[in-house]
Amino acid sequence: MSLTRKLRRLQPHLLRVTGILVSLCMLSLLIASSVDWDPAYRFTYSWLEYTDADGSPEAVCNCSAILQGDDQVLEHTKLLTFTKDFKKRVQIPDEYYINATQDCRKFKLSRKYITFPLSEEEDNFPLAYSMVVHHKVQNFERLLRAIYAPQNVYCVHVDKKAKDSVFAAIMAITSCFPNVFMVSRPVDVVYAAWPRVQADLNCMADLYNASTTWKYFINLCGQDFPLKTNLEIVRSLRSLNGKNSMESEQMPSGKKWRVERAQRIVDGQIQDTGQTKSPAPFNLPIMSGNAYIVVNRGYVRSVLEDSQILALIEWAKDTYSPDEFLWATIQRMPHVPGSLWPSAKYDQTDMTAIARLVKWAWHEGSEGLLEAVYPVCHGNHVRSICVYGVGDLQWMIGQHHLFANKFDTDMDPIAIYCLEKYLRHKALSS
Ligand SMILES: *[C@@H]1O[C@H](CO)[C@@H](O)[C@H](O)[C@H]1NC(C)=O
Ligand SMILES: *[C@@H]1O[C@H](CO)[C@@H](O)[C@H](O)[C@H]1NC(C)=O
Ligand SMILES: *[C@@H]1O[C@H](CO)[C@@H](O)[C@H](O)[C@H]1NC(C)=O
Repeated sequence: MSLTRKLRRLQPHLLRVTGILVSLCMLSLLIASSVDWDPAYRFTYSWLEYTDADGSPEAVCNCSAILQGDDQVLEHTKLLTFTKDFKKRVQIPDEYYINATQDCRKFKLSRKYITFPLSEEEDNFPLAYSMVVHHKVQNFERLLRAIYAPQNVYCVHVDKKAKDSVFAAIMAITSCFPNVFMVSRPVDVVYAAWPRVQADLNCMADLYNASTTWKYFINLCGQDFPLKTNLEIVRSLRSLNGKNSMESEQMPSGKKWRVERAQRIVDGQIQDTGQTKSPAPFNLPIMSGNAYIVVNRGYVRSVLEDSQILALIEWAKDTYSPDEFLWATIQRMPHVPGSLWPSAKYDQTDMTAIARLVKWAWHEGSEGLLEAVYPVCHGNHVRSICVYGVGDLQWMIGQHHLFANKFDTDMDPIAIYCLEKYLRHKALSS
C-alpha cells in the first residue's frame, strides 16, 4: 500500500489524538492533500518514526550497516559498547520512569508509542500478552513499546521479590495504558520451579477475563524482543490456521528425572526431596518443550477449565522446571484447540516452531557443521544462553520466529536500538 493511501486511512485516527503535534500533522495533511508526493507527508510520520535526532546515545551507530553484517562497523560498534562512558550514558534509573509517566500523554508522545491500529487487519486480530518481569525496567519498557498496539491486551507480572523501585516504575508505566495491567495475583518466582508457571497462569486467567476478543496468547519475559512487526505477527499467526506453535518433542531420557522425583522449595530454591512421584494422571505422555508459547484462545480456556489439564497441573506442582514440559504436554492432548497428535511425527523443535529463538551455547557452530543449529553467539552467554550482540542481528531477522531471547540493554543496547528502528520503519512503511 502506498504511503499516501495509508496516511489517508490514518487520518481519522490522528484526529483522536490531541495536542500541538497533532495540529501540526493535520496542517501538513491539509497542505499536502492536493499533491500526492509532497514532502510534508514524511513530516506527518516523523513523530512516530524513530530517528537519530531522538537524542539517544546509541544514535552514533549505523544500523543499516549493522543489519547488513558489515564487519568493520560491527567491530567498531562492539568496541563502543565496552567503553565505560557509553555504558553509563545508556543506563536509565527506575526513578526516571516514575517521573516521566506522571504525564502519560507526554510520555507516550515522546516515546512514540503507537496509539492507533496501523491497519484494519491488525485491529481485527487482537493479541493477548503475558509479560513476566523481575528487573531491568529499561528492557521492559522498550519491549512494551515495540509490541504495543491499542487493540492488544497486556498482563504484566512483576516478581514479588522485585525491588520496590522496579515494581513502582513498571506499575507507573502500565498505568499510562488502559489495555496494559498488572496481574491480579503476583507470585514469588523461583528459578526452575512451579511458581514460574503460576505467574503465566495468573496472567492467562486475567487476560481471558479482561477481553473476549483476542485471538492468540503469547507469553514473554523482560529480556525478549520481537523480530517481527505487529502486522507480521498477526499474519504469521493467521497462517497457523488455528494451530498453536511451540517446542513439543519426545522427552529425552536424560530429562526424565525432572518429572519422576518430587521437588520442593527451600529458602527460595528448588530442592530434590528424594521421593519418587507417581506417573502423570491419565497416563498422559509427558513431552519436552520450553517456557514460551504461542497459543489460541481455546488452548488458554482449556488450561483454565479442562479437568484433565487441571489434574495435570496439580500433579506438576512438585516437578523440576515444569515450564519446560507442561505447555508442550498440553499441546499434544486430544481435544485441546490447536493441539497436535501425540505421535512423534508431529514433534516440533524450537527451530521449527515460531514462538521463540534462543541460542544455546552447545548448539552453536559454523554453517555446514552437522551438529550446528545456529551461528555462534556474538554477545555473551548467561546460563549457556546467548545474550545477543549487534553481530547476531543480520542472521536473526531472517528467521521465522516472532520473538528472540535474550536481549540486555546493559550488555548491548545497540542490538535493541537497531531492532527497534528496523521494526518501526517496517511497521510504518509496509
Ligand atoms: C551506513 O551504512 C550504509 C550501508 O553500509 C551506507 O550506505 C551509509 O552511507 C552509512 N551511513 C553513514 C552515515 O555512514
Ligand atoms: C522529573 O521531572 C521534572 C519535570 O518533568 C524534571 O524537571 C526533573 O528533573 C525530573 N527528575 C528526575 C529525577 O528525573
Ligand atoms: C472477571 O472479572 C470480573 C470483574 O472484574 C470479576 O468479577 C470476575 O470474578 C472475574 N472472573 C474470573 C474468572 O476471574
